[in-house]
Amino acid sequence: MAKICLCLTGKTLAQDLDLLNKNRKYIDIAELRVDCLEPNERFLIRRFPEMAGVPVILTIRRGLEGGNYFGAEGSRITLLARGLAYAAADQRRNFAYVDLEEDLDVPSLEEAARTYGTRIIRSYHNMEGVDEDLTGKLKQLKRIGDELVKVVVMPRSLDDVVKVFRAAKLTKSVDKIFHCMGDYGINTRILSEFLGSRISYTSITDEDNLLPGAEGQLDPKELAELYRFRDITPKTKIFAVSGFPLKFTNSPVFFNKVFALEQTDAVFVPIPTDSIQSLLNLAELIGLSGISITVPYKEEIIPYLSYMSKEALSIGACNTVVAGAHGWMGYNTDSVGFSDSLLSFIGKKDLRGRKITIIGAGGAAKAVASEVYRLRGKALILNRTPARARSLAQLYRFAWAGFDSRGADLMERYSSIIIQTTSVGMEPNDNQDPIEFYKFSGREIVMDLIYKPEKTLCLKRAEEAGCRVLSGIDMLHRQARYQYGFYMNREFPPSLISRVVF
Ligand code: ATR
Repeated sequence: MAKICLCLTGKTLAQDLDLLNKNRKYIDIAELRVDCLEPNERFLIRRFPEMAGVPVILTIRRGLEGGNYFGAEGSRITLLARGLAYAAADQRRNFAYVDLEEDLDVPSLEEAARTYGTRIIRSYHNMEGVDEDLTGKLKQLKRIGDELVKVVVMPRSLDDVVKVFRAAKLTKSVDKIFHCMGDYGINTRILSEFLGSRISYTSITDEDNLLPGAEGQLDPKELAELYRFRDITPKTKIFAVSGFPLKFTNSPVFFNKVFALEQTDAVFVPIPTDSIQSLLNLAELIGLSGISITVPYKEEIIPYLSYMSKEALSIGACNTVVAGAHGWMGYNTDSVGFSDSLLSFIGKKDLRGRKITIIGAGGAAKAVASEVYRLRGKALILNRTPARARSLAQLYRFAWAGFDSRGADLMERYSSIIIQTTSVGMEPNDNQDPIEFYKFSGREIVMDLIYKPEKTLCLKRAEEAGCRVLSGIDMLHRQARYQYGFYMNREFPPSLISRVVF
């Protein structure tokens, strides 16, 4: 089973020990990053393994490999030697591992390590990209004995991550630590088991006064508790959310909490994606069971699907993809998430007799318009670019207008329900209101699809005028519960509804 390692990047050994104590239950081993220590602390490292009480890796990372050691190489070697010296008969008082870079050629260090049972990690870092011959690199890195090979690369695209998983498949017999840095690499830190990697490195990400670990490292608590890293085995089902830049997705939190509560052997990972083709290559390689597709790929995914549900077809967008026997099957849960949320809010079964304004004419508005039509409502599509409002409105014989005086006049007549579908007002631009020109009478029902912030400026203004308002958070939960239905082939357990929130 892969182990969780905490990178200790404190300035003093006392600070490192404190970090270790706070995170002890989430980790199996620690890496003492001597390069982060203040110079006078570096002379005291020999005592650290005994203080730590968990196996410790001795690492002095150079600047060129993303570390903080910028001194002379001779002094670095002396420090490494100091860490390995005076070996104790009780091995727990020695460093368990020492990280020696592939170009470091100091036989005396290796000799010292081997004599006293400190295992050598032979490391290679590519901070610029992913090597062409990654398989060769993994196979050739080991020198002698039971060295553990460590290869860390920096993917520049999702295709680079595909190369990493391919190389892992071809080097199953190599005892290794293997993962990617950066945003594209985040899933490789969770799926160590699928890469055959012995260790996943984590660091404390929310503490000031601490040097950062490597780019893209997760917090140990997040890896251990949210992703249940220690429970992941080759049999674990993998699901993902994919989009770009995918900075604010809440799906992993939602699904992993559900999986934990019902003890499903599954994990839900984020996969930032720059190409749908690479995403599907990766999905096939690691056997993804399902993917939540988000901005900007809900339409681009369509040509790759072998089946599309009625809703996905009529909206022309897909946010849920499931692996089927004959290819990828696409669904849209935004639409039903939206209508469930609105109908339960107004306490009705349809929208008959309602005159509704839909703000926006993009992907989200498409799903809303299709549902309003299905539920027999009448709508006005109001959009900054009137031509887009027109093309959407014409599909359903709805009215349309731009953000102008005609639009404002028409809106007065379509004001039973107002549904805001644009991204205007979303964090970090939460001081914006796309319909600031509109004065609420207080009788409108106002729904905003945005869920961050939970109450947009537009909703706050509507509420102050006396309107009933509905945030996008409810729709988000509902659409996720429908996604669960497609992923697990069963209804979302009602008992979990109030227990799992984003
Ligand atoms: P989504 O899938 O989130 O709907 P989209 O398809 O890019 O994203 O659509 C974005 C919607 O937000 C569009 O209606 C867009 O208006 P335009 O068609 O005029 O581009 C609207 N939108 C985005 N930024 C806007 C802004 N600053 N003011 C008004 N509308 C805006």
